[in-house]
Amino acid sequence: MNNKRFQGKMGAKYGLIALAAPHYLDCQRKLGETVKKYFSRKAGKKFNVLEIGCGSGVTSEIFFKSDKRIHLTAVDNEPEMIRQIKKKLEGYVKNQKVRIFKADALDFVSKCPAEKFDAFVSGLTIHNFKTVYRNKFMKNVYRLLKPKSLFANMDRYAHDNPKVFAEWTKWQIGMYKKVFSELKQPDLIKRWIDHEKYDARPDVIMKLKPAVLDMKKIGFKDIKVVYRKKTYSVLAAIK
Ligand SMILES: C[S@@+](CC[C@H](N)C(=O)[O-])C[C@H]1O[C@@H](n2cnc3c(N)ncnc32)[C@H](O)[C@@H]1O
Repeated sequence: MNNKRFQGKMGAKYGLIALAAPHYLDCQRKLGETVKKYFSRKAGKKFNVLEIGCGSGVTSEIFFKSDKRIHLTAVDNEPEMIRQIKKKLEGYVKNQKVRIFKADALDFVSKCPAEKFDAFVSGLTIHNFKTVYRNKFMKNVYRLLKPKSLFANMDRYAHDNPKVFAEWTKWQIGMYKKVFSELKQPDLIKRWIDHEKYDARPDVIMKLKPAVLDMKKIGFKDIKVVYRKKTYSVLAAIK
């Protein structure tokens, strides 16, 4: 079981992050484009896509718009997020386009049968995992994908150079202070700064080069960084 980092106010007010993280929406758009491009070349009537860390369903909606043939399995361990996504995607639930599960990410992927999914997608979730947990998780993601299927992850990959990473972190903290004080949400400043510090812990930090190397070791091919603005990145790969 990994830490729960979106309990309470962090989950309830999560939508405000788009204001303090100016690359967030652009990054999401690129994730959607990546999924769209991949499926546009594929024949088939229905594709099973797994989304881990679906949160309130903002990313999930992008996938439905990317390709009408997508059927989503959406997973999150936070009850507040599950409440939000169920409300947001009510229509998709009724039309059996999405199945929503409240579960721990590693627990869920470990129990998935091999080669079940046509794609794995995720937004801003994997960087939250501790390194040991993340490695086990990624091995399972590889296992549950069908051959030649897509891995697309929009996430916060730290710069490999600590000095550059420190500059980016300083900039992001400045954004939290500016935006959340303007919104009169001072407690969110502390919560997001603590979140940022946790992300940078040696047992958590997800640096780009080691992440790509680990993926290669697991067996992923054609690994590409298709978007990068500061830590905000989209990585695409093929099983
Ligand atoms: C930063 S939010 C991203 C939400 C959405 N994908 C987006 O991009 O806006 C990360 C989500 O991952 C979920 N999460 C984090 N660790 C998890 C875990 N170990 N198992 C399941 N969900 C997890 C959190 O509850 C949260 O909803």
